[in-house]
Amino acid sequence: MHRSTLASQKVELVMAHELFGFSEELKGVGKLPIFVGDHPLVPKANDAHVFNKSLVRRILLSMKGGDTSFLLEGDKGTGKSSLVTQLHNRLNKPMINITGSNGVDDTHLLGCKTIKGGDVQEVDGVLSYAYRHGLSCLIDELCTLRPGVLVGINDILQGDGVINLKHHGIDPTLDPRELLNVDGGMTIVKHPLFRLFATDNTGGKQQRDARFVGVNAQNSAVRSRMTSFKVGFMTPEEEMKALKGAADVYAAKRQVTPMDNLFIQQLVEFAFRFRKAFAMEEACDNISFREIQRWAYKWMMYSDADESFVDAIYTNLEETDRVLALETFESVFSRKLILPEEHAYSVGDVADKFIQQNVDAAKAALVNAA
Ligand SMILES: Nc1ncnc2c1ncn2[C@@H]1O[C@H](COP(=O)(O)OP(=O)(O)O)[C@@H](O)[C@H]1O
Ligand SMILES: [Mg+2]
Repeated sequence: MHRSTLASQKVELVMAHELFGFSEELKGVGKLPIFVGDHPLVPKANDAHVFNKSLVRRILLSMKGGDTSFLLEGDKGTGKSSLVTQLHNRLNKPMINITGSNGVDDTHLLGCKTIKGGDVQEVDGVLSYAYRHGLSCLIDELCTLRPGVLVGINDILQGDGVINLKHHGIDPTLDPRELLNVDGGMTIVKHPLFRLFATDNTGGKQQRDARFVGVNAQNSAVRSRMTSFKVGFMTPEEEMKALKGAADVYAAKRQVTPMDNLFIQQLVEFAFRFRKAFAMEEACDNISFREIQRWAYKWMMYSDADESFVDAIYTNLEETDRVLALETFESVFSRKLILPEEHAYSVGDVADKFIQQNVDAAKAALVNAA
């Protein structure tokens, strides 16, 4: 069945590096078969996405080599999810995704029995559907799934070519030789184009936070079944390019003044100074690309560097990190941050002023009475 579907789809061979906008070839990758035509499940393009050449090459070679499941791990906002979606965009490969949480269970991933029109029906979950039809499936925030759920998909993670859906029963009269031929049956065969991608947020706080020890231990058994890649921060140059691209798209869409190149550089400098402090354990959290991107958007919208900084970054920070943020801001912009009223407000100052006024008024009343 899969072969006939694949044979009917038009494919063209394209040099991989051209798809990702690299000027030089990706060693060992060469040409890739790309489906021609639109598919509604291919993610939308972000033309401003900056790809890491080495990472793209290794992922493509692993996909070509037949690896089934991939784990992208890294700090929040480093671009794990967008790497997967933009990779699929360039490859014109359809994908579906689900965001993990402790409420996601086997039925969301592998399906269940349900009642429709009075009849019992078996339905797929996102993962079994992708496995059957040759889509990629992205499970975001994999570490938030409960351990039992992860164990339940071990066969898929390790690339087994056939899986059995637990919620299905088997027709007792069926000849075992026919089991794989039953459409909609208990056993499903992996489509050759199926791939599983997962992202895992292990960076930053979580590694230092004792509350996450259990989660990480659980992950090691899962990781051993997957090809894992670390997604790090972009280089400053890449980050400026990505930020400029995103800011220009935003400015055009919202019809606001585009961001000056100097400001772009300053935002990236802020992020790198803060990250350096985090690496030296002087901060409890890191600054992601997502956050400076939000600062850039707000800066253009508010036409104000300070207020946009406060709303995009400062207010979210822990108290101790706020002090560091103020120092970092001053180092980058050679001036102090002007905090808006709600942050500058000190209840002590206001109380002292109010009490002093009352004391003065009481004194004046005494003088007048005398
Ligand atoms: N390499 C990149 N080039 C351009 N934009 C990026 C890049 N990486 C991340 N972004 C942007 O940063 C934001 C956060 O990325 P995301 O993929 O959601 O991070 P993660 O999944 O690691 O938390 C998104 O708006 C995304 O478009
Ligand atoms: Mg993500």
